[in-house]
Amino acid sequence: MKTVVLPVGEDALAEAARLIRAGEIVAFPTETVYGLGANALDGAAVLKIFEAKGRPADNPLIAHIAHPDALSLLARRVPERARALMRAFWPGPLTLIFEKKDAVPAEVSAGLSTVAVRMPSHPAAAALLRAAGVPVAAPSANRSGRPSPTAAAHVLEDMDGRIPLILDGGPCGVGVESTVVDMTGAHPLLLRPGGVTPEMLRTLAPDLAIDPAVLHPLAPGAQARSPGMKYRHYAPRARVTVVTGGADRLCARYDAALAAGETPAILCANAAPYAARRTLPLGADAGAMAAHLFGALRDADAQGVTRIFAEPVGAEGMGLALMNRLLRAAGFDVE
Ligand code: TXA
Ligand code: MG
Repeated sequence: MKTVVLPVGEDALAEAARLIRAGEIVAFPTETVYGLGANALDGAAVLKIFEAKGRPADNPLIAHIAHPDALSLLARRVPERARALMRAFWPGPLTLIFEKKDAVPAEVSAGLSTVAVRMPSHPAAAALLRAAGVPVAAPSANRSGRPSPTAAAHVLEDMDGRIPLILDGGPCGVGVESTVVDMTGAHPLLLRPGGVTPEMLRTLAPDLAIDPAVLHPLAPGAQARSPGMKYRHYAPRARVTVVTGGADRLCARYDAALAAGETPAILCANAAPYAARRTLPLGADAGAMAAHLFGALRDADAQGVTRIFAEPVGAEGMGLALMNRLLRAAGFDVE
């Protein structure tokens, strides 16, 4: 299959919408990461996503909608406290989980009785959803296990020859995937941190709980609340270790790896403390760091880096999403 990359524009959006209505899959930009979309009400179309990504069949997808009203196609019940979150944070990087309607095919929910839904704010994503006229199931547009794509070039790297069309809308602003909150239990439960932080959510949902799997490995044999959390994720080819205790310890680990014949790099906020060493600087604050993390992991691969030592960040605000992705890229290797 030939993969075409088209800059976002009227004709490209019309073509993408036509492909989705015809049961094909298309990559498109969102404010978080690029998604790989199919008609969420067409199980056969959704299966093509799993095939192109090499995604495990037990990992459910997020359905994207153009307007909150479209939720009635997907969700059996929408609790009032969910409506309050939707009013505050939709459109935007917040995914909510509801009891699903029968119309949602098992391919989207991976056999669960629930469905994850979000209304993206990226203008190209919103225009595509309006033009397609159907909810669009879309995971991140990377091969399964690779860092999520935050630019069209990343999608092409992973999907060339596997999908017909990539809409190029430039780099993604948030850079990590949406916040996922399960609304089906007694208390809202945060399963994956993202652009809408716990602090923001708690202004409206003070009883929000955070799943322990956000910052800790699953206990052996424990059931993942969010199936995606049990897989190694966001992984570059290099082995990643989070090194606590400050720049001197990072430098020592780097120098030892270099002496051992590795090609090391330091993943950090800024390069200044690491003179003459290879760094992957992400930016001054957690927001900028999140926006650049996945691109930096891909750059490390392109540079032939074999060993990454990462600075930890405080788990407040966007820091929680950043630390969650870092720990998963590291397979929870912290020293
Ligand atoms: O920002 C995003 O959310 C991006 C863009 C494209 O919108 N999409 C995305 O999709 O990150 P994906 O498939 O890479 O991640 C979806 C996550 C997975 O961890 C999955 O296990 C979880 O949401 N999930 C989906 N449906 C669920 C459900 N019914 N119950 C629990 N977790 C669910
Ligand atoms: Mg993903």
